[in-house]
Amino acid sequence: MPAVLLTGATGYIASHTWLALQEAGFDVIGVDSLVNSSARVLPRLQQLSGRDPVFVEGDVRDAVTLDRCFDVGQARFGGISAVVHFAALKAVGESTEKPLDYFENNIGGLLSVCQAMKRHGVHDLVFSSSATVYGKPESLPITEDAPLRATNPYGQTKLIGEELLRELERCDPRWHIACLRYFNPVGAHPSGLIGEDPRGVPNNLMPYVAQVAVGKRAHLNVFGNDYDTPDGTGVRDYIHVCDLAEGHVAALRYLAEQQRSLTVNLGTGRGYSVLELARAYGDAAGREIPLVFAPRRPGDVDACYADPRAALETMGWRATRGLPDMCADSWRWQSLNPLGFEG
Ligand code: NAD
Ligand code: WQD
Repeated sequence: MPAVLLTGATGYIASHTWLALQEAGFDVIGVDSLVNSSARVLPRLQQLSGRDPVFVEGDVRDAVTLDRCFDVGQARFGGISAVVHFAALKAVGESTEKPLDYFENNIGGLLSVCQAMKRHGVHDLVFSSSATVYGKPESLPITEDAPLRATNPYGQTKLIGEELLRELERCDPRWHIACLRYFNPVGAHPSGLIGEDPRGVPNNLMPYVAQVAVGKRAHLNVFGNDYDTPDGTGVRDYIHVCDLAEGHVAALRYLAEQQRSLTVNLGTGRGYSVLELARAYGDAAGREIPLVFAPRRPGDVDACYADPRAALETMGWRATRGLPDMCADSWRWQSLNPLGFEG
């Protein structure tokens, strides 16, 4: 059976998707420049799947690298049938400091991947989009037809990426594209062998809480407690990374079987506040998370959670894992690997 090419393959979400795809019977080829991940994830994938990962190191903006991926796919698996494009820079704050780097990497990378797919006659693409395309939501839960707006250069790259892809499929109906708008991916594989391994100070809540729990950081700064939410702290739709990974399997099946494009939210539909998440994490880790209330973080919204019904109705996918699983699995990964993959 032809294989699926994952770009950004050694990253957080892609490494979990790699396993989910293999479990579902797909062969996988990965490509990554390692700009924000470690090749040390590869032996862990080997350990979990019992198969040697097929991996090409390189930048997706480089046509030669991508042609090599398609050649390896041909030699090893008789071809590549679809691409899941994860590779991107994703730090919102950094994107405001280096907007051109984000435009070049995220939009340039997407165009380069599409050009390579065209050269090799492959037209099924899954694109990692984000709930960031909704900006400050006007109503909750958020449905896919809500107004779209970018509030930072990173978000702009996702919005432009989606728009370019919709134009591409309008002009050339051979393309079938799934834009998956992830809400807040958290947690880790239940084995504790792979998980999120941020470089430097984590930008996102759960990895920060995990580092507090393991003793790497003294306390959690709670950014704002005067939001229009039940306890005053920000509310988000946290989704277990393994549920998210299975969403990609569902999307690839949808593209192959239905031969049409789709854009769906991948969330649980349930929001949790910062305080609820910190408490649940403390329960999972068996220790309290010390909190310090701090000013709001610029650009943050009060609450953001998905209406996840479209993903269920179109591709039969829904999230099944709850907040206790997300915290327990994150804690297993964090406590077994306090220094991440490089430890
Ligand atoms: P990640 O940083 O762990 O993974 C991205 C991977 O892409 C990294 O391994 C990085 O080395 C690689 N990469 C970046 N630019 C590259 C390039 N030009 N060529 C080759 N490899 C390159 O991030 P993640 O959290 O796994 O995110 C995966 C995708 O999901 C990204 O597109 C991100 O924007 C999107 N997303 C993430 C979140 C989140 O909160 N984690 C939410 C919504 C959307
Ligand atoms: C969640 C809540 C913070 C850290 C970001 C990107 C978004 C998407 C997912 C890629 C908020 C609060 C956080 C901390 C805190 N990424 N918080 N202390 O902001 O919903 O989304 O990641 O597409 O584009 O913007 O997630 O995890 O950063 O924050 O109190 O140390 O936790 O204020 O209410 P966010 P987050």
